[in-house]
Amino acid sequence: MDHFLYRNGILHAEDVPVTQIAEVVGTPFYCYSTATLTRHFRLFDEALEGMDHLVCYAMKANSNQAVLRLMAGLGAGVDVVSGGEYARAIAAGFPGERIVFSGVGKTREEMRAALTGGIRQFNLESEPEMLALNAVALSLGKVAPVTIRVNPDVDARTHEKISTGKSENKFGIPIARAREVFAEAAALPGLEVVGIDVHIGSQLTDLDPFALAYRRVAELTRVLRDDGHDIRRLDLGGGLGIPYERSNSAPPLPVEYGAMVRQVLGDLDCEIEIEPGRLIAGNAGILVSEVIYLKSGEGRDFLILDAAMNDLIRPAMYGAYHDIMPVIEPAAGAEQAAYDIVGPVCESGDTFAKQRLMPQVAPGDLVAFRSAGAYGAVMASEYNSRPLIPEVLVQGDQFAVIRARPTFDEMINRDTIPEWL
Ligand code: LLP
Repeated sequence: MDHFLYRNGILHAEDVPVTQIAEVVGTPFYCYSTATLTRHFRLFDEALEGMDHLVCYAMKANSNQAVLRLMAGLGAGVDVVSGGEYARAIAAGFPGERIVFSGVGKTREEMRAALTGGIRQFNLESEPEMLALNAVALSLGKVAPVTIRVNPDVDARTHEKISTGKSENKFGIPIARAREVFAEAAALPGLEVVGIDVHIGSQLTDLDPFALAYRRVAELTRVLRDDGHDIRRLDLGGGLGIPYERSNSAPPLPVEYGAMVRQVLGDLDCEIEIEPGRLIAGNAGILVSEVIYLKSGEGRDFLILDAAMNDLIRPAMYGAYHDIMPVIEPAAGAEQAAYDIVGPVCESGDTFAKQRLMPQVAPGDLVAFRSAGAYGAVMASEYNSRPLIPEVLVQGDQFAVIRARPTFDEMINRDTIPEWL
């Protein structure tokens, strides 16, 4: 459920007509709902009720400071994967003890910053990284809390570009080598091994791959405890999918995911961490765009929008489906048309949908891409010198621009011309 609904014939974000925001900020823009973000965080938090747990929002999905401040205020933890994300987490008010640091390529500088600023744990992914963190921690006179990410060799049955738990993926250490690697880590004085980490992929629409991976983690927990390790924390990653296509059957709900976690891992007496990103932010956001032209091609009509692949790359990059709806509600029984929906960028890949059947629209009309709150704005670029588009947050009947549209000068003046030119 989200808070983008037609009311009085106009798409609303909570209690604000989307048309009103468009008048103030211009198009295209991203628009997020505070109520939906809040609701989605709480669904996960409640799903794990009764277990010692922390929901660590994966900010890679949407790292706007306002979204992060909201999450921090709700009591969330946060999963970061770079020095930049760590700095964002601190700036938004997350205390160090609620920040977990993931990623295969943490630099020594990033490790130093997090150890100095405060960190709940590093999720380590390789032996070289273990040695690096050990050295950095010792140089600072600190002991770094760590989990080690295992690769359980499970097929997440999702898009290959966002599948991470197969042995051919770059993530984690092979689960078969876990005893050896945990023993090595335990011998390093700069590290304190607190648990196991796993993340098998994103946009999973089925609980089975999760359950399979978590059963392997449960087994490993017992083995490692027998080896003498104090395994007290399990980081289960993120990955629960969202319904992008309303016609498809909906993925499992957080409450079902939580029940599965309880069933598979509940008797281990471990603190549970999860790192959802997409499910919290995805359906909490839309991308609003204006139709510039309707162009009739050979056997097809192109709907040319003012948003492009640089603003929302998911369709071009993963062939992802986003529902696209008119902001003005079509009359009941209104005619549908099939469009190729494209942006103005100069490549054919700048296509949001092919032969998409939707209510007829005309130049000047606004359309909304649904499910655009996660991996939308964060993956945007200024390709074709199109400035990053603004982000707006709605709460009830109020809205605020939470990232302004840069002017052309602001964009251009980030470049500098050497004096010898
Ligand atoms: N934890 C780790 C270690 C991750 O790598 C990810 C996502 C998450 C948590 C959050 O997963 P989520 O709950 O959002 O599925 N750009 C792609 C998605 C990439 C996901 C990368 N890792 C997309 O637009 O579909």
